[in-house]
Amino acid sequence: MSKVFELIAKEEKRQNETVELIASENFVSENVRKAVGSVLTNKYTEGYPGNRYYGGCENYDELENYCREMWQKVFDTDYHVNVQPHAGSQANYAAYMSVLKPGDTILAMDLNNGGHLTHGSSVNFSGKMYISHFYGVDDNGFIDYDGVPARLREVKPQVVMVGASAYSRIIDFAKFREMIDAYNAEFGTDCKMIVDMSHIAGLVAAGEHPSPFGIADIITTTTHKTLRGPRGGMIFCKPELARKVDSAIFPGSQGGSLMHVIAGKAIAAEEALTPEYKEYIKNVVINTRVMCDKFIEMGYDIITGGTDNHLFLVDLSKTFPNVTGKQVQDKLDEHGITLNKNCVPKEARSPKETSGVRIGAAAMTTKGWKPEDFCKAAERIDKIIREELA
Ligand SMILES: Cc1ncc(COP(=O)(O)O)c(C=O)c1O
Repeated sequence: MSKVFELIAKEEKRQNETVELIASENFVSENVRKAVGSVLTNKYTEGYPGNRYYGGCENYDELENYCREMWQKVFDTDYHVNVQPHAGSQANYAAYMSVLKPGDTILAMDLNNGGHLTHGSSVNFSGKMYISHFYGVDDNGFIDYDGVPARLREVKPQVVMVGASAYSRIIDFAKFREMIDAYNAEFGTDCKMIVDMSHIAGLVAAGEHPSPFGIADIITTTTHKTLRGPRGGMIFCKPELARKVDSAIFPGSQGGSLMHVIAGKAIAAEEALTPEYKEYIKNVVINTRVMCDKFIEMGYDIITGGTDNHLFLVDLSKTFPNVTGKQVQDKLDEHGITLNKNCVPKEARSPKETSGVRIGAAAMTTKGWKPEDFCKAAERIDKIIREELA
C-alpha cells in the first residue's frame, strides 16, 4: 500500500478516537467527500460559466451556476456570489483587491483580540500590501464599538474589516454599518464594509446569528467551519461590485478553479438547506453554552463571561498564572483531546505560548455529542489541568 494511504488510515483512526474541540474544524458528510474525491479534479476550467478558457466545460458551467444559486438560497440573498476562492485567505485577498489599491488603509479587529492574520497582520499580505490599523475589545472582552468612530477619524480607512477567529459574542453588523456611514458622510469618503463571517457562517445560515446580508458591501467566508463543507472560501458582494470581485479572483489572484471542491461546496449548500442542519446548528449553540457554563461553575475565567456562538475562550492568566495555553494544548493532545492555544485580551505572553485556549463544539456536535458529553469533557480537561499542569 502507498505510504499515503497508510497515513490517511492513521489519520482516520486519529479522527475517530480523539475529542475534537478546535473551533474552526468539523467533519464533512460522505457526500461532500465523494464530490471532492471525484473525477472533477481532472479538468481545467479557468474563467467563469459561459466564458471559459478551455473547451469541454459544459458540465462545470452548470455545476458552478448551481452551486452559486444554492448558496444564495442558503443565505436568502440576491448578493452576487463567487464560489471559486481556494480558501478563506484567498477570499479575503480578492475582497481587498476588488476595492483597494496597495498602500490603502484598512481598519480591522486586532489579531490578539480575536482577529485573523488576513485582517492586517504585519506577517501577512494584508499587513504588507495595505496600511493596517486595528480596533479591539474592551476590558470585559466585548468588541469596543464605542472606540471605533475615533479610530475611523484617526486612520481614515478605505475598508473596515468586521469579523473574527476567536470572538464568542454576537457581532453587531448594523452598528458597524452605522459608524461607517457616519464616517463616510462626515468626510465624503466611500469606505467599504467587508464582513468575514468564516467562523459564524453556519449560524448565520441557520438564523442563530444576525445576518450581514443587506448590510455589508462584501462578505467573505470559509466553507469548512460551521458550514461543514469542504475546505475552501466564497465571496458575496452587492451586485454593483460583482465584476470587480470576480476579476479579483480570476484572473486577479487565482488560475483554474477547483471544480471538485466547488462540487463539495454545492453539496454542503444542499445540506445547509435541510431542517436537520438548522437543528444541528441550534445544538452547536446549546452545547457550547453548556460546556462554557460548566467551566464557569468549576471556577474558570471565560472571556466576556460566556458565549453566544460555537466557541468560547478560557483565560488561564488569573486562575492558573503559571500554566500557558500551549502547555494545555500539548498536555490535552497526549490525552486525545484537541484544542488550540489562544491569546487573551491584553496578552502578556507571545502568540506561541499564550495565556488562554479556544474551545468549540461544532465538530463533536456533528459526531452526535449531547450536552452531558460536553460537560464530562470539561470535567476531564479540568482534572488534567489541575493534576498534571498546575
Ligand atoms: C475569520 C477567518 N477568516 C479567514 C480564515 C482563513 O481561512 P483559510 O485557512 O481557509 O485560508 C480563517 C481561518 O481560520 C478565519 O478564522
